[in-house]
Amino acid sequence: MRVGILDSGLGGLTLLAEALNTLPHCDYYYYADTDHVPYGIRSENEVREFTLGAAEFLAEHGVQALVVACNTATGAAIGALRRRFAFPVLGMEPAVKPAVTAQKNGRILVTATPLTLRLEKYHNLVASLHAEDVVDELPLPELVSYAEQGIFGDRVLPYLRAAGAALDLTRYATVVLGCTHFPFYRAQFRALMPAAALIDGNGGTVRHLADTLAQSGRRAAGAGTVRFFCSGREEDTEYQRRLKRALAWQIHTICSTL
Ligand code: DGL
Repeated sequence: MRVGILDSGLGGLTLLAEALNTLPHCDYYYYADTDHVPYGIRSENEVREFTLGAAEFLAEHGVQALVVACNTATGAAIGALRRRFAFPVLGMEPAVKPAVTAQKNGRILVTATPLTLRLEKYHNLVASLHAEDVVDELPLPELVSYAEQGIFGDRVLPYLRAAGAALDLTRYATVVLGCTHFPFYRAQFRALMPAAALIDGNGGTVRHLADTLAQSGRRAAGAGTVRFFCSGREEDTEYQRRLKRALAWQIHTICSTL
């Protein structure tokens, strides 16, 4: 079973680490669209075209299922992807639904890219949950840039503080990490909002992948390998090495919470 995982950059690794934990025998083709990252400050049309191009590459390489491990690309392209490809295509959306279900009282802060928060798909999601009155949004485009530059840890705290300065961060009971780059900064979100629950969509999406493979009769069998492609190129580069280090870090993080 060959599964494609697609993101603009290294954010999708936070999902891939969970997938390796839950479905360790699949073979994963990880596509980082490094020629076009970041997606979140681009137009919907641009992101749709880039995403379709990346998915085309993965289809040509024989993936039998595709996870769009990017909330922004999902918002812009999921319909077009499902129309074009016959294999299952799973997307991600900010985990507002589990946040609303888990949180009976208290406000929810949804963090994501500017494009995700602008798209109709996101606003329809919040409206369908009747959550307009309990949800606030905070776009955090620089967090994507920090991750892409390999800047992790407390060096992002001044940015997070400044970005959230107009909101009283202490009043949120839940923070939705609605961009796959953001789980790299869980510790920093927690430092600023120690009482808030942090929710991301990775676990739910991987469970959905496992169910989809089971229902389609596809066996999650393979050699458990991972191949990395940077906008279609597989050669050994500094970015490739960064992808591998970041994946190892995420796997370590998951293992230490088991
Ligand atoms: N990781 C992506 C997401 O989940 C977007 C990052 C970007 O702006 O490229 O939305």
